[in-house]
Formats: sequence, structure tokens, C-alpha cells
Amino acid sequence: MRLAKPPTSCKVPTPRDLARAIVNALGDDSRAMWLEPSHGSGVFLRAISELGVPKSRIIAVDLDRTCSPSDRFAQTFRGLDFLRWAEKTNLRFDRIVGNPPFLSIKSLPISLRQKAENVLDINEQPIGRGANVWYAFVLASLRVLKKGGSLAFVLPSASEFANYSVAIRDAIGETFGSVELFRCARPLFEDVQEGTVVAVARGYQKPPCLVRKRRFKTKESLLVGLSTSGKLNGHKCRARTPQALGSTTTLGSIAKIRLGGVTGDAGYFLMNERRRQELALPEEALTPIVSKAKHLRSHSIDRQVWADLKAAGERIWLFSPSPELAKAGKTKEYVALTPEAGGCNKEAYKVSIRAPWYCTPLPSPADAFLSGMSQGGPWLCINEMRKLNATNTLYVVSFETRTRELWYMWALAMFSSIAQKQIRRIGRRYADGLVKYEPGQLGEVRLPRLRVDEDYRSLYARAIRAFTTGDARTARELADSLQL
Ligand SMILES: C[S@@+](CC[C@H](N)C(=O)[O-])C[C@H]1O[C@@H](n2cnc3c(N)ncnc32)[C@H](O)[C@@H]1O
Repeated sequence: MRLAKPPTSCKVPTPRDLARAIVNALGDDSRAMWLEPSHGSGVFLRAISELGVPKSRIIAVDLDRTCSPSDRFAQTFRGLDFLRWAEKTNLRFDRIVGNPPFLSIKSLPISLRQKAENVLDINEQPIGRGANVWYAFVLASLRVLKKGGSLAFVLPSASEFANYSVAIRDAIGETFGSVELFRCARPLFEDVQEGTVVAVARGYQKPPCLVRKRRFKTKESLLVGLSTSGKLNGHKCRARTPQALGSTTTLGSIAKIRLGGVTGDAGYFLMNERRRQELALPEEALTPIVSKAKHLRSHSIDRQVWADLKAAGERIWLFSPSPELAKAGKTKEYVALTPEAGGCNKEAYKVSIRAPWYCTPLPSPADAFLSGMSQGGPWLCINEMRKLNATNTLYVVSFETRTRELWYMWALAMFSSIAQKQIRRIGRRYADGLVKYEPGQLGEVRLPRLRVDEDYRSLYARAIRAFTTGDARTARELADSLQL
């Protein structure tokens, strides 16, 4: 695929004095390999060269094919998408420095967008198009950074609080020996109003990490601050995982997870509303069900959501008459049909072993539904409709507690970092990209205890809204922020 040109809006060169101060803050050592992942007109290349680093130890990449006089300071590769390049190259670096593009992934031309949105986050999930290109650059840079290496980037001030950067901040404690964030109250670039942060991270994969945040009023004072980089005291990152593990409980100890009803002959037992009307079956002869992962659309399912599925022609009825109904009218006629005429295959194993054959056993109570087969990972859809159940393409969850608010709380806890880490390990991946989760293994997932007395119904609704639109981070942040 031919790559698009870089959008003009992202070509904002770094002021020379700032580039020099950042490069000096990282410093060289005699064998260090340097990388500038989007060198543009080469401000950083010049600064690295001024530090005495020979061209043989500097690699530079840029999408823009237009050469610049500073290209002579490095081995430069133009017309390349850094995000693609980082995935394929065998080169590894001791210093990575630059000013990555600030652009929303959504706004990229397709030839660039596909790669950017599929860059894997720290949690191994694609970052999605809600993130920004600079974030993809940071993640891709980590892939090519050597153990013990350092990285310094000019980032938008949003990097300190944007949702999509939380994962990277969370991971800091596990990935770098120290991180310094230099923030300036005034814009550092002449034509850019956005505040700027300079992030300097040292000692890749050599935790525990020290974090230092410093604020400056002017660019000049920030440059002075950078000259003392690496020499300040900071605070230690929170050690998150051990602290949190102390107060966890398994999903299996608070809820039962079972397969939905196994009909033995889905073609006969499952139907949509049109078919029910054609057969003139009374509603009492059927049980409302959900029968597909795509029927689980939001944090809960109620009568209205189910009615929408019904109106959309989905198979949401399970034929399950009482013995009395089965002896009368149209229900009796349907029960009596031969297989050739569209009746049930009574020799099917599951049908043959039950009495009466037309009563599919269903798990009860059905407090929530869960798809064991999904791309994004399993999540709970709380059942708010009386008598609604599910067939065996879905799992049915029955909670110990009858306090509904707590169902939402545990459902949210499944999005916590602790739970997600375990869930990722138990999924079995299939060639089509789907991942399967077994009920037994799901039951062993440890969930953190969350604070009581929160409005978990609306918090969970928010988490699922984010999750189902590709923003798993927001769901995770919500769950983590309520952890005890
Ligand atoms: C903000 S400018 C910074 C240029 C230079 N690093 C500096 O500081 O002056 C961003 C640069 O990213 C380049 N760029 C944009 N998307 C890219 C991509 N996917 N791969 C490599 N370079 C890219 C642009 O061509 C532009 O030169």
C-alpha cells in the first residue's frame, strides 16, 4: 500500500535550544545507538551530532520524503512509517529522542491509520483509533529500546492526563528506573498554543521507578531544569500489584458460571418473532432468551433491549411449553410435527435424554450473561428482565448475593488491571482472532474488592460504553480507581 504523506499540521519543528537541552539531558556513551523516529528537518539530529555522536551511531526515520541538510548527521530512512518500521526492524537502541506527531489516529489517512490503531498497548490490546499518534510512537519506541536504555520525547501536555496515556503511566513503575516530566506553563513552540511536556525516562526495564514532576514558568527556566535532569530526588512509584492482591476474591466464590440451555435441536427450538407468529404459538409456550454474543450490547439487558432484538428479527424465543400447553391448540400441533415437516429431531442426544423432550433445562437464576467467545475479552451483561435466559452459545451467571447493586460492582471489578491480567492468560486463541474462555477458568479469576456505596449501576454503564467502543482503558481506570 502506498503511504500517505504526513499531514502538514503535524510538522512542527522543535526549537533548536530545546532539542539541544533534551539531547544533553540524555547524554551519550561511547557505544550508544541513537534513534530519532520522526526526524523532520533534523533539529534533534544536529543536536546529537553536536554532542559528538558519529553518523554511524544515529538512525533516523521520517514519513516525509523531503530531504533536509541535517540528514547528513545520521543514517536516514525517509518515506517510512515509523510504526511499521519499529515492528519489523531488528535494530535496538540505547537512546530514543524526538518530538512525535500530535494527531488523532482517527484523522489519519487509511494507509497510516490501520497500523496506528493496531499498535499494542501495554496491556497487549490494540490502542484503537481513539488514541493519538504520539502515544503509538511511545509504545512503538519501547519495542526497540534496549534494556537500560533511555527515551526523551516532547509530548503534548495532554500526555499527563489523557485516558489513553494512563496505561503507559501505570506501566512506568514496571518499565523504567526513573521518569522526569518537565512541564511549562507557557507554550514551548511559537505557533502552538497547546502546553508541552518533556518526558525523560531512564533505565528501561530496570525498576523500581522514581518519578519527578517539575513545573516551569518559562521556556528558559525549563531549559535550566533539563540541565539538572537525572540529578534530582523523586518519589517512588506505587507498587500496585502486591498491594491489590491482598483483597481479592475469586469470581467462582461469588457466582456460578454455567452454560446456557442446550436445546439439542436449535432449528426447532429457537425462533424469531415472525416464525412464532407464523406458527401461531402463544407467547406462554416460549421463554425469552438471548442466543448470541451480539445480543449482549450494553451493561444490562431489560425488556426494552430484548424487544429491540425481537423487532430486529433476532432469534429470541425458546420453545419451552408446559406439559399442559403442549396438549392444546397450535402448541400441540407444533409438538406433533414430524422432523420431515419441520418437527424436532428427537433422536438428537440432548433431546432424547430428557423428559418431556420439549423442556430444555435452563440455569437459574440468570442474573447476568457472558460470552465465552470474544475478541475484546469476557464481560458481564446484567439481566434486568424477568424470565430472560440464554442458550448455550452464552454463559449464565448466578450470583450468591441477591443485592443487585453488587452484581454491577463485581461486573466492574472484572475490568480491573488485576483481573484483566489473569483473563488474558486464560484465553485460548483461535485462528480467526476469537479468544475462548472456559467457565471453570473464569471462576478462578481473582477480582479485587471495590469501595462500597458507589453508584455501580451507572459506573458500570460508563465502563461498558467505553469498552464496547474500543476504549478498554477507561473501563480499566474506572475499576482501578475504586479498588480498596
Ligand atoms: C512534530 S514533527 C517533528 C519533527 C522533528 N522531530 C522535530 O522535532 O523538529 C513530526 C514529524 O513526524 C513525521 N511523521 C508523521 N507521521 C509519521 C510516521 N508515521 N512515521 C514517521 N514519521 C512521521 C512528520 O513528517 C514530521 O516530520
